[in-house]
Amino acid sequence: MTLANTSLAKNGLDSRAVQVPPSITRELANAAMSVEGLIPLWFGEPNQPTPKFICDEAARSLSAGETFYAEELGRPYLREAISKYMSNLYSVEIDVNRIAVTVSGGNALNLAFQSVLEEGDTVVTLTPAFPNLLSIPMLQGAQTLTHPLTVKDGKWSLDVEAFLETAKGAKVVLLNSPSNPTGFMLTREEIARIMEVLRERGTWLISDEVYARTVYDGSAAPSFLEVSEPEDRLIVVNSFSKTWAMTGWRLGWLTLPPSLTPIIEKIAEFSIASAPPFSQRAGVVALEQGEGFVRQMAEGYRHARDLICGGLLAHKGITCPIPESAFYAFFKVEGVTDSIGFARMLIEQAGVGLAPGDAFRVGEPGWFRLCFAQTDEQLNAALDRLSPFLEKAHKYA
Ligand SMILES: Cc1ncc(COP(=O)(O)O)c(C=O)c1O
Repeated sequence: MTLANTSLAKNGLDSRAVQVPPSITRELANAAMSVEGLIPLWFGEPNQPTPKFICDEAARSLSAGETFYAEELGRPYLREAISKYMSNLYSVEIDVNRIAVTVSGGNALNLAFQSVLEEGDTVVTLTPAFPNLLSIPMLQGAQTLTHPLTVKDGKWSLDVEAFLETAKGAKVVLLNSPSNPTGFMLTREEIARIMEVLRERGTWLISDEVYARTVYDGSAAPSFLEVSEPEDRLIVVNSFSKTWAMTGWRLGWLTLPPSLTPIIEKIAEFSIASAPPFSQRAGVVALEQGEGFVRQMAEGYRHARDLICGGLLAHKGITCPIPESAFYAFFKVEGVTDSIGFARMLIEQAGVGLAPGDAFRVGEPGWFRLCFAQTDEQLNAALDRLSPFLEKAHKYA
C-alpha cells in the first residue's frame, strides 16, 4: 500500500476499497486516449458491433414500451430460453429454477461471491488470471491464493493434483476455463476430477465460463455442468458479452444449485434489482438465432490466432503458448524487465496498445496480453509496428 492510500484508509474509507489495485490496463488506456492512430489491442471484446437481428429485437421491445423493472431473477421468457440453450448445449437437463439473469458476467461474479463468501475466507484460483477474478473476492474481504499454470510443449498446462493440493482448506475454488488471458482450457477429464474432489471436500466452485463458446470450431468448451448434480456446490457464470458481441449490453447469467436461487433473488434486489427488459428480449434472440454468428466468429478467431501467434513467433526471444480458445495471445518478450514501462513505450513509439502481464498476476516481467478479435488489416499493421521493438528487446536479453 502507498503512503497516500494509508492516509485514505484512516480517513474513514473502506480499507479494502482503498487497497484493491486499480486496473493497470484501464490506467494505460485512459492515459493514451489522445494518441492518434493507436491500434488498441488491450481490451477483451469483439471488434464488431452486435448483429443487427439482436439489436432489432431490443428496438422492438423499447418501442413496445418494455421499459419497466423486471423480476430480480430475470424475465421468465429469458430464463426459459437460457435453460433450453444450456440443456441442449451440454446434453444435461438444466432446470429453469437454476437460472438467474444478471447485469453482465461481472455482476454475476459479484453475486456469486456475495452469496457464499464470508470475511476472511480463502479463494483459490489459477494464474495468469483476469484481474477482476481476484479483485472481486478481495473487495469482499476474502484472502486470495493463486496457483500458476505452466508452459509445456508450447501450450499452457495445469498439474491438476498439485492445484487440488493448493486448494485444500479453501472455501471457494474459482476457475476460468476457457481462460482470459491465456486461452487455456480444462479437458473433460480434468473437469471431472476437480468436481469429484471438491464435492468430497464440500468446497464451493465458482466456474467462470464466459468464453464457453469462444472455441475455434464453434462448439462449446467442456463445462462443469456436464459432470455435476444440481445440488453440487457449483455456480457457473456466463455472459452474453463475448459470444454474441454484446459487451455494452451488460447481460449475463448464473446457473445455480436450486437452493441458492432464492438467496440470489434476494441479494440482487439490493444492487441491480433487475436486468433491463429490452436487453433480456435481445438475449432470447441471441440464444435462439445466434448459432450462425457464433460459428462465424469462432472461425474468425482461429484465423486471427494463427496470424498473430505466427507473427509473434517469427521473432527471436518470444514465448507465445498457442491459445486453445478465447481471443487472446499471452506472450513473453525476452529482455523486457518492466512490462508496464514497455507497454507505455509501445503506446508512444509503436502506436499499439497491449495489456501488461502484471495485470494478470503472472509473477515475472516481460509478459503481455494481446486481444486478436480484430480485422486482419489491424492485426497485420500491429505486427509491423511491433516488429522492430520485439527485435530490439531480445538483443538486450
Ligand atoms: C474471464 C472473464 N470473466 C468475466 C468477464 C466479465 O464480462 P462481462 O461483465 O462483460 O459479462 C470477463 C470480461 O472480460 C472475463 O474476461
